[in-house]
Amino acid sequence: MSLIEDAARRLEELRRAGVDVPDAPAADPAAAPRANGETPTPEAMIEAFESQAGTFASPLLDPARRSAPAKKAAAAPHAEAAPGAYVELNLARLRAQGFVTPDAQTSRIADEYRVIKRPIIKNALGQGDERVRHGNLLMVTSSLPGEGKTFTSINLAMSIAMEYDSRVLLVDGDVAHPSMPGLLGTPHSPGLLDLLMRDDIDVGDALIKSNVDRLTLLPAGSRQRRSTELLASEQMASLLRELASRYSDRIVIFDSPPLLATTEARVLATHMGQIVMVVAADSTSHHALSQALATIESCDIVLMLLNKAGQTDVGTYYGYYGDGSDR
Ligand SMILES: Nc1ncnc2c1ncn2[C@@H]1O[C@H](COP(=O)(O)OP(=O)(O)OP(=O)(O)O)[C@@H](O)[C@H]1O
Ligand SMILES: [Mg+2]
Repeated sequence: MSLIEDAARRLEELRRAGVDVPDAPAADPAAAPRANGETPTPEAMIEAFESQAGTFASPLLDPARRSAPAKKAAAAPHAEAAPGAYVELNLARLRAQGFVTPDAQTSRIADEYRVIKRPIIKNALGQGDERVRHGNLLMVTSSLPGEGKTFTSINLAMSIAMEYDSRVLLVDGDVAHPSMPGLLGTPHSPGLLDLLMRDDIDVGDALIKSNVDRLTLLPAGSRQRRSTELLASEQMASLLRELASRYSDRIVIFDSPPLLATTEARVLATHMGQIVMVVAADSTSHHALSQALATIESCDIVLMLLNKAGQTDVGTYYGYYGDGSDR
């Protein structure tokens, strides 16, 4: 029985047992208290989600998780703006943190991503039976914070860039909680938000080349008052159209906010050719997963990736969801 079927069965059992289970997201966790008028903090969002989830307690709300954002901030060694728009990724550090790197092609994680990336590349480059609209735009998302979106985005980007004929653009689309400066050491330079707010810079001006051949980065850019809301703007839709056509030879991977945290992530999802839904084997509840899947029904290709799956670091896809099942 798939996790989705299992989730549906559980919901039905609870309904029969008299538990009040909402059919669709009722109290939207995206309405959780917002810090500085911005997106909700991960902690506020999980609290809001759990207060509505009733019996579906999530193990995400533990003290270790609560301190995660602070750790991220402390680990962020921001470099100064680099006029050359180039970043030297610290591959040894990334490897030590469990990421795929081109200098360790035989690691277990590299093997796992070799399998995971295959259908993505096929869909992106139109090698399947049908051409996927905007198939080169891929969003990596999940229900809630901390489930492994960034881990998956970077690994997919590395792994795909290691293919001799694939080029990748990795975009830090989690604009309220960007990870690129801390993990990849990207400089303070114009990024996604600047492209959305300013018309004096071009996409090409914001791209950062790296020491990994064929891997280019687009950081989140300068924080705006309503950063996350810009993801749902017409400017974003237009930028996505430009990325899909101007960089049609690249696979553009968006690390994104969790779907249940912001409504903007759901709007962003509607523009994507493919979505990778990360499911944390050790924490994602059925309730959160089924709510999150309901928000992205419009995307034809949703690949679910079981992360932190016990024996191996990352599981493999355990199925397609939606109309992409025959691809
Ligand atoms: N498969 C894995 N193996 C080992 N560590 C992992 C794995 N997946 C995620 N992690 C670690 O778990 C933590 C949370 O992962 P990550 O930052 O990717 O989650 P996220 O979904 O992007 O969170 P957020 O919503 O806060 O952006 C990180 O320290 C990451 O390195
Ligand atoms: Mg992240």
